[in-house]
Amino acid sequence: MLPRRDFLRTGLLTASAAACAAPMGLAAASSDSRIEVLLDEPLGVISPNIYGHFTEHLGGVIYDGIWVGEDSPVPNAQGIRKRLIEEMRKIKAPVVRYPGGCFADSYNWRDGVGPVKQRPRRTNFWEEADNSPSSPANHKFENNRFGTNEFVRFCKLIGAEPYLAANLRSLTPEDFYRWIEYCNSPAGSTSLAELRAAAGSPEPFAVRFWGVGNESWGCGGNFTPQEYAVEFRRFSTWLPAYGQKLSLVASGPNSGELSWTEGFFEELLRKGPEQLDSVYGLSLHYYAWNLSRGRTNDWEKGKGSALEFEPIDWYELLREGQRIEEMVQAHWNVMAEFDEQHKVKLVVDEWGPWYRPGSEATPGDLLEQVPTLRDAVFSAMTLDIFNRHPEKVAMAACAQLINCLNSLYLAHEDKFCVTAVGHVFALYTAHQGGQSLRTLISAPAVHYDRDGKPATFWGLQGSASLHGKELVLTVVNPHVSEPRETVVNIRGASISSASSTSLTSPDIHAHNTFAEPTALEPQSKSLALSGPLLTIVFPPASVTRLSLTLS
Ligand code: AHR
Repeated sequence: MLPRRDFLRTGLLTASAAACAAPMGLAAASSDSRIEVLLDEPLGVISPNIYGHFTEHLGGVIYDGIWVGEDSPVPNAQGIRKRLIEEMRKIKAPVVRYPGGCFADSYNWRDGVGPVKQRPRRTNFWEEADNSPSSPANHKFENNRFGTNEFVRFCKLIGAEPYLAANLRSLTPEDFYRWIEYCNSPAGSTSLAELRAAAGSPEPFAVRFWGVGNESWGCGGNFTPQEYAVEFRRFSTWLPAYGQKLSLVASGPNSGELSWTEGFFEELLRKGPEQLDSVYGLSLHYYAWNLSRGRTNDWEKGKGSALEFEPIDWYELLREGQRIEEMVQAHWNVMAEFDEQHKVKLVVDEWGPWYRPGSEATPGDLLEQVPTLRDAVFSAMTLDIFNRHPEKVAMAACAQLINCLNSLYLAHEDKFCVTAVGHVFALYTAHQGGQSLRTLISAPAVHYDRDGKPATFWGLQGSASLHGKELVLTVVNPHVSEPRETVVNIRGASISSASSTSLTSPDIHAHNTFAEPTALEPQSKSLALSGPLLTIVFPPASVTRLSLTLS
């Protein structure tokens, strides 16, 4: 069993845990943790696109989440929820993936363009799974009110680039290049450009990112990697560019399946090394879902609850999530065998925890879960991992933006809240475009009891990025009850001013709801310096961003 103190969060502990700078001499003596940021060891520029998002015609993501309609009493800009636009501008959302997910490989983009009244109603890919009596009809039967134009409008309103996933399972390469033609052909040049203009967009959308299928090993066609590579070559062989560089993302492995990556590249390159030029990125999907502590690999039985969990489930989720770092490294190593210069990058375009149903903020919303502080820590940990591998991960998308899995926002009719995950994205925006720096972190490990066997997890982790003289350092303390007093040293500079913002709570289950939208909010403070090093206490169960000015 875990020691009882690990299950309880006492008032005393909480009081001592608020992120604060401690006077050096005194505190350093008792600090058991150290962070050293190495200014002279740059790792690469952090692509803003790793802070991307994923939206699918699934449950309440599009209808109710993003789209409320022009005539809605909910404040909207041309049908798109205004509050969502405001929040996404704040986090500088760089890129949004659409229309799926599994939905993408059953979607005909033509259904979602042209006069609204003439758009057909179709059975949504998720119809069978979406079997709650509370689920509205437009979640199951797609009315196509929201299509390419509306999505691109949404992207423009939030200042993000669109990333469209093409249907490889049930449409043809021609449909793919016609969609590109619809989006990118110059004003007045083609019939499809005119159709676009008739919907109010004469100028091309200039869509750069295109996914060639989704999860082609599963819902996207059940291909072998070799079969998919042949399809990829066929779909990518001739595409109209109109002066717009197209960056194609190949459907990649499920989690750690290295045989997919190997099989795909082997077959792709059978036609010669120049085939690599057609691939911008290899997609990697990884969901942390198995909280069974090794008892089962059954997709349904292995899942845990989003809201009801013990500290052991907290650590187990983080352990599952941490695995993504090995996956990034392992797929990268396989890719190196085929692509020595690493022209092709990883695109982690679906990631996050996946729990069993039961915590929906809006009953009937398929796959909706309410993120807690645990998911905030998970998400911060994942973003730190991407930050630490800037040369490998070029783009990523948290699954999914709103009313779904690891959502940043929950919305229903006029109700809206920023979740714990949304707050993490807001904290981490500061890393975008910075120079990632190697950072050495040493802290006592977390020890816990895993069904009678001792288990450990790292004690502190994080990432650092430099922006001129400003250094951003984000740190996760995963321990459910122990603060970590830590000495921070920037090797090669002194700190002239410092401030911190932390997201934490005495309750590890803390989460925001429509009724209590600010139950969990980050707290900021400036830190007093009393020497060349900074000593700071990272609260238990916390995500902290330090903003340091260097001299
Ligand atoms: O995000 C939900 C689903 O998970 C996506 O549609 C699919 O790509 C993945 O399996």
